[in-house]
Amino acid sequence: MRIEVKDLRFSYGGTKKRKTEKYALDGVSLTIEEGEFFGIIGQTGSGKSTFVQHLNGLIPLKEGMGEIKVGNYDLSDKRVNLKELRSKVGMVFQYPEYQLFAETVEEDVAFGVKNFFPEKSAEEIKDVVKTAIELVGLDYPALKDKSPFELSGGQKRRVAIAGVIASRPEVLVLDEPAAGLDPQGKKDFLELLERLHKDFVRTVVIVSHDMDLVAEYCDGAAVFKDGKIIKRGTTEEVFADRECIFKSGLDLPVVEYLKEKLAEKGEKIACGTKISEFLDAVTQRWGGKT
Ligand SMILES: Nc1ncnc2c1ncn2[C@@H]1O[C@H](COP(=O)(O)OP(=O)(O)O)[C@@H](O)[C@H]1O
Ligand SMILES: [Mg+2]
Repeated sequence: MRIEVKDLRFSYGGTKKRKTEKYALDGVSLTIEEGEFFGIIGQTGSGKSTFVQHLNGLIPLKEGMGEIKVGNYDLSDKRVNLKELRSKVGMVFQYPEYQLFAETVEEDVAFGVKNFFPEKSAEEIKDVVKTAIELVGLDYPALKDKSPFELSGGQKRRVAIAGVIASRPEVLVLDEPAAGLDPQGKKDFLELLERLHKDFVRTVVIVSHDMDLVAEYCDGAAVFKDGKIIKRGTTEEVFADRECIFKSGLDLPVVEYLKEKLAEKGEKIACGTKISEFLDAVTQRWGGKT
């Protein structure tokens, strides 16, 4: 499903805002194509979370405050089927492990599916849950009857994701997905997301302030600043705009930093923002030489 947002405005103070009150979103227009792995970046308070919560109607779109279309769902239409939309746009919040609540892993993962598809039989639900738990790389027979609270941090996060993907969403939105994970946990988790994007969910949107993560995994990105988007493009285009990155209080990903340092020494390397692309370009340039 294509995501198309036009001139979206939102204020936590309601529409009758005082003159001094700031818009959390101040005229945001953004299109994310179906199939993209898209990054939303920007400093704390720039409006990233407020924006993504609009995508499945968690924050309702107010009249006269812009347009949001997700696939065929028009969120400005009062008759839009929000329940159906939410089954198609899965949302994983920061520290998703705090969303776990059921007595067993199986019940926890089943919760969303039962809610979205009440017509499904117990057998069908069991099947869907098993598939989702296996998709996130967990051992179904070993974990299904355990309490989610007995699991490790990484496992909890996977269970939370399983609960969202069990409904087979077409779009998966994750707000700061790697926050609080150790480096290995983060790498494993991102590889899982990459795999899910390849085989299971068409479009992935992540909010992150980790530029290395965005450079490595995202195709495109948008930079938020003070409730506005100040840049949108491929990750390569976004990070090439140094002025925009520094103006937004962001850092360069390590690959861009190395390219810059090499350029200062007169060695210009043209490549994308992923580490593998950088290594390819470097070995092509200096490979075989000592
Ligand atoms: N629940 C809330 N009530 C009032 N103001 C909020 C609330 N959540 C966020 N804000 C304000 O809205 C702006 C955007 O916040 P947010 O979308 O959370 O930014 P980000 O996710 O980029 O850190 C900030 O000024 C923030 O203080
Ligand atoms: Mg946020």
